[in-house]
Amino acid sequence: MVIRGAAIGAVTLLAVSVDEAGASDRKASLTRQMVEDIKAGKMELEGDHAAVNELIIKRNIPITYSYIAVLMRTPNAFGEGPACVVCHGSGDPSVSYRGLDLSTCEGINKGSTEPPARKLFTPGKGAKKELLGRMLRNNRMPLGVRFNVPTDSPPILAIRQWIADGAKDDAHFKKDILPLFATANTFAANTPACTECHMSNQEPPSFHELDLSSYKGIMLGADSVAKGVANATKVVIPGKPDESGLMQHLVENRMPPGIEPSSDRDHPNTQLLLRWIEQGARCD
Ligand code: HEC
Ligand code: HEC
Repeated sequence: MVIRGAAIGAVTLLAVSVDEAGASDRKASLTRQMVEDIKAGKMELEGDHAAVNELIIKRNIPITYSYIAVLMRTPNAFGEGPACVVCHGSGDPSVSYRGLDLSTCEGINKGSTEPPARKLFTPGKGAKKELLGRMLRNNRMPLGVRFNVPTDSPPILAIRQWIADGAKDDAHFKKDILPLFATANTFAANTPACTECHMSNQEPPSFHELDLSSYKGIMLGADSVAKGVANATKVVIPGKPDESGLMQHLVENRMPPGIEPSSDRDHPNTQLLLRWIEQGARCD
């Protein structure tokens, strides 16, 4: 009995000292950091989603796959609409749109399996501009267009071809392409012209400082004032329609289908999903 007790005591002692050594090697505790930041007045609790930003995103807490699995199964997780797995629940394109299986970690990492098969993101990299980020954050244009409007209408195909042919400022562009952006009801019935909302490099009134009223404006891209001309977001990449934001905004329907365009593009769960990808999209 005495020997056993001594042995247990030794083990307990060992455990304590290992734990203390480990603690001194570790970075300061998350909670203590938070308390210090609160005292130093470094915690901003203004605006929407402050808790998620301050306590999770800024402190880069590891997001686990178990949380992502829940998100994919939860209605209204990213804005009003059914859970993702209802429509993307298997790799079989006969029962799952695009053969995209969002019900498993492997499926999310694999992406769409129906041709053109494609990945949704690159693990470890920012994913806002990748397919998944775009599908959750970008509204199809013109703003408010419904998802049952065909994505291969003649005006959309003409723009695609113009970009594929090098996006030149030629007679064809001036006569056939530029007017498409300045005419109401071109892309769907009862929709304003693109230039109603994208008419100059100033926001307001022009959304994202995007000017679709001239060749120069289109090639300059978005946010040229906020980010500077050199860092503006290019929306046309000559020869590459699929990589051109202009094209993506004409054909990609925000998910879940039917979601209100005014629905928050930076929903906390969208931020957490994108952070999980940035952290490596790990399955454990
Ligand atoms: C009601 C059914 C439905 C729901 C719910 C739904 N989707 Fe979709 N999804 C579709 C359809 C249909 C397409 C293909 C047609 C299209 O792009 O409009 C699609 C396409 C996609 C694509 C593009 C795949 C590719 O290769 O083109 C992604 C990514 C995607 N969905 C992600 C999601 C996410 C994430 C959710 C949950 C927030 C979600 N979807 C919810 C029906 C749905
Ligand atoms: C009623 C206003 C409205 C109309 C009309 C409209 N847009 Fe937009 N556009 C917006 C808003 C708001 C955004 C901001 C992002 C979002 O909601 O997805 C945007 C963003 C964009 C972007 C992304 C810019 C970036 O930051 O990369 C492109 C490209 C775009 N629109 C193209 C078009 C095209 C092409 C048309 C016509 C087919 C069009 N828009 C019509 C309001 C509009």
